[in-house]
Amino acid sequence: MEIRRIGIIMNGVTGRMGTNQHLIRSITAIRAQGGVKINPNLTLMPDPILTGRNANKLEALAQAHGPAVNDGKPYKFTTDIQGAFDGKHGDYEVFFDASGTLQRAGFLKQACDSSMIKAVYCEKPTATESKEAVRIAKMVEDAGKKNGVVQDKLWLSSFRKIAMLKELGFFGDILSVKGDFGYWVFPGMDLDQPAQRPSWNYREEDGGGMMIDMFCHWDYVIRNLFGPIKSVVAYGRTDIPERRHEDGTPFKATADDSAYAMFVLEDGTMCQFNSSWCTRVRRDDLLTVQVDGTKGSAVAGLRDVYTQSAANTPKPVWNPDVKQPIDFMDGWEKVPDNIDYDNAFKIQWEEFLRHVALDEPFRYSLMEGAKGVQLAELGMQSWKDRAWKDVTPL
Ligand SMILES: NC(=O)c1ccc[n+]([C@@H]2O[C@H](COP(=O)([O-])OP(=O)(O)OC[C@H]3O[C@@H](n4cnc5c(N)ncnc54)[C@H](O)[C@@H]3O)[C@@H](O)[C@H]2O)c1
Repeated sequence: MEIRRIGIIMNGVTGRMGTNQHLIRSITAIRAQGGVKINPNLTLMPDPILTGRNANKLEALAQAHGPAVNDGKPYKFTTDIQGAFDGKHGDYEVFFDASGTLQRAGFLKQACDSSMIKAVYCEKPTATESKEAVRIAKMVEDAGKKNGVVQDKLWLSSFRKIAMLKELGFFGDILSVKGDFGYWVFPGMDLDQPAQRPSWNYREEDGGGMMIDMFCHWDYVIRNLFGPIKSVVAYGRTDIPERRHEDGTPFKATADDSAYAMFVLEDGTMCQFNSSWCTRVRRDDLLTVQVDGTKGSAVAGLRDVYTQSAANTPKPVWNPDVKQPIDFMDGWEKVPDNIDYDNAFKIQWEEFLRHVALDEPFRYSLMEGAKGVQLAELGMQSWKDRAWKDVTPL
């Protein structure tokens, strides 16, 4: 049996996404399960080296997560990123980046210049402007590197169930899609209510903002599940003007922390998404997406989906003078978990590793990621111009 090692330079891995989703729940989890088993004769084994600016943080991560899955040894790490690209710390064919959005282009350029690197994978958004996102995608393509961008939400069990329902014809004709995303992100300005999430998320000059963050997701979710987007109209706001930095000092929020959008699809379906870090949750989950069709509706959370068919749809009567006689939550049925749903980031990693090692198709390329940046940019233009914007081919 061949165990084929795939060396991965993991950059920005001390951050929230890098540590939790990519290092722990994807690469370490894949090593813990014994690699990606391709067939009885071949297994792919990711072998990371952690890179970043702070040796102490890297060492702590390497010690915390390496030994259990790396023959008792910590993961390798270095602050010498250029040295890693030059092969001074071993042979690595994949470069992965989960650093800040504004750092992405620089690191991907270094990866392109490295003859050792064969493939590049990174977090979204790849840039904050579509021109730059396209430039980066072309740069990596022209350098002949395989490439991919994180589009994790596609592998959420709930969205896979929506795809299944669609394929089964459950919805009939889909009429509209309604997404409600977000929760209250504490700004850190009140006693004993510490700030949450990285503070750059709330500064436009550092790549933050709800539209650039979330429209990238809505783009690939909508396109893959419901069809191509024709036009967008959007409105954003900075609801909370002041938040607290990681170092404890207050700062002025310059980015939108709520965004409201309507996306009309080429077939006329209306997809409406509210995204807010300034809303309190009274719904099934932090993200809910309701799909209404002629034959049935479904509401997806992050994991579960509830359906109501045409035959089970109650008939309410509008009368505010009496207590509502129908319990509307009662008329929905939970879609069962007929398979095991793994972590969404991990599944996409496994597909990317197969793409790298076996040339299997992988359609979540940097150019696909650029479409998400374009949608966010159109959303911002729509907000600024107070007008509908059409999505043109990149
Ligand atoms: N797929 C998703 O659902 C999802 C969710 C959140 C964030 N993201 C994206 O992931 C990326 C990271 O976000 P995060 O929330 O983990 O942020 P974070 O601030 O927690 O982490 C950023 C990481 O980049 C590193 N970094 C920052 N500037 C650097 C520089 N100049 N040189 C080297 N390293 C640098 C930091 O040290 C840290 O390790 C962002 O692009 C963000 O948009 C994706």
